[in-house]
Amino acid sequence: MNQNIAAVTGANSGIGKITTRALLQEGYRVLMICRNPEKADAARLEITQETGNDKADILICDLSDMSQVVEVASQVKQTYNRLDRLVNNAGFLPDGERKESPDELELTVAVNHLAYFLLTKELMPLLENTPASRIINVASEAHRYGEFDPGNLQLERGYSASKAYGNSKLFNIMFTHHLHKRLKDKDITTFCLHPGVVNTGFASESDSWFAKLFNLARFMMKSPEEGARTSIYLCTEPGIEHLSGAYFADCSPKTPKTNVATNDDACKKLWEASEEMVKKGLST
Ligand SMILES: NC(=O)c1ccc[n+]([C@@H]2O[C@H](COP(=O)([O-])OP(=O)(O)OC[C@H]3O[C@@H](n4cnc5c(N)ncnc54)[C@H](OP(=O)(O)O)[C@@H]3O)[C@@H](O)[C@H]2O)c1
Repeated sequence: MNQNIAAVTGANSGIGKITTRALLQEGYRVLMICRNPEKADAARLEITQETGNDKADILICDLSDMSQVVEVASQVKQTYNRLDRLVNNAGFLPDGERKESPDELELTVAVNHLAYFLLTKELMPLLENTPASRIINVASEAHRYGEFDPGNLQLERGYSASKAYGNSKLFNIMFTHHLHKRLKDKDITTFCLHPGVVNTGFASESDSWFAKLFNLARFMMKSPEEGARTSIYLCTEPGIEHLSGAYFADCSPKTPKTNVATNDDACKKLWEASEEMVKKGLST
């Protein structure tokens, strides 16, 4: 099996669906990691017909459940012998009221950060076995609303939807920064990105004021095709390996809005705390 393989989370909708379509057009086999079988089937049918490439395989996983993340990674490792691109894309805007995952982790940090962290870790053997593999993490400019408070990563205090979302997207950038350091002797690169403000399924199910504002502004937003451009660029552009660890927007490296996003000590602390949170989740 020598065909290039990519895995995309949240591949049935929005930016993930367009990224999947582009990778199929580039000749990749794409593993669509989705939580809803009906939505995944419908998206698969649409994009395989559009591209004429039917090599899209669906793997079902609710990324809020850490044991399902381990299970889906195990299925990938048993079935495929390489992984050229891992696109951690699935994410959501939470409600105004704090909720917990089945593992008793705050839901936003679980889906938007810990699933990126754990899936990457579990798939590392495959990524290591594949020349010039890349890990792409879809973050957001909303990281500017986040803060790194090691004593309150689960937002037991001071919860709001914008804080929970902002934190999770800040953690995507911090995760990428520290991951790059850990990968320095390996033939693997990692990038994160802001896709722009994009008219997708995003925020359509949140009851927060942040979602209400977002939904009012839909007419001004990028299309999903425009919003997926930086993800596709980071998957396909040759010669960007020297930029590993960077945060991108509009297909160019950018400086994150807060210093903590690239603070070595803070990023290492977040990594260690993420290991603990995942361990707690898996033991619940
Ligand atoms: N749209 C924007 O303006 C914007 C801006 C900055 C960053 N982003 C980021 O872009 C990424 C993609 O979002 P999008 O705009 O394309 O939104 P979207 O159309 O709502 O797509 C989100 C995808 O994530 C999946 N997902 C959510 N929770 C999941 C879970 N627990 N388990 C498995 N899959 C789950 C969704 O599955 P279902 O279809 O089953 O719900 C969907 O496939 C997110 O990380 C988001 O934070 C978006």
